[in-house]
Amino acid sequence: MKGLVIYYSYYGNTKRVAEEYQKLLEIESKLLSADAVTEADILENDFFVIGSPTRAFNMVKPIRNVLKKYKSAFKDKLVVSFDTRADIVQINSKILTFMVKRFGYAAEKIDKLLVKNGAKLIESHKWYFVKESEGPLTNESYVGISNDVAIVNRKLKENG
Ligand SMILES: Cc1cc2nc3c(=O)[nH]c(=O)nc-3n(C[C@H](O)[C@H](O)[C@H](O)COP(=O)(O)O)c2cc1C
Repeated sequence: MKGLVIYYSYYGNTKRVAEEYQKLLEIESKLLSADAVTEADILENDFFVIGSPTRAFNMVKPIRNVLKKYKSAFKDKLVVSFDTRADIVQINSKILTFMVKRFGYAAEKIDKLLVKNGAKLIESHKWYFVKESEGPLTNESYVGISNDVAIVNRKLKENG
C-alpha cells in the first residue's frame, strides 16, 4: 500500500503536522503540497492524508482545488483528513465562539467532499491547535498527532 500526505500551509504549521504524519506512518508514503499535486499522484496511491489550515471556517483553496479537480480519482481510495485551527478557548471571544459553532472547521468539510467523491474514510477527521494564528503548534498537538497516527496505522492494517 502506498500513501500520499497532501497539505497546504501558509505559516508552516500544517506542513509540520503533515511531516509528522509522513514520518510516523508505517506504510511507504510521500509528502506533497496541494499546489504541486497532479491526477497521477492520486491515481498511483492507495491512501491519502489531507491536511488544511482552517481559514474563514473552511479548508483553503489549494486543498479544495485538489478535491474538486481530481474528484473521480479519489473513488474507493482510503483517506483521513486533518486541519489546524486556532484554539477558541484561548482566544476567548464570544462572537468568534458563536461563529465557530455555527460555521465549523476545515477538516469536517474535507471529509464531506471526500465522501461525496466516493473515497473511504478510515477515521473521522482530526484537528490540531496552533497558538494565536501563526503558531507554533501546541505541545498537546504533538501528543495528539502521535496518538492519531497510531490509530491510522492500525486502521490501515485492518484495511489490508
Ligand atoms: C485569514 C485567517 C483566517 C482564519 N480563520 C480561522 C477560522 O475560521 N477558524 C480557526 O480556528 N482558525 C482560523 N485561523 C487560524 C488558522 O487556522 C491558523 O493560522 C492555521 O492553522 C495556521 O496554519 P499554517 O501555519 O499551516 O498556515 C485563521 C487565520 C487566518 C490568517
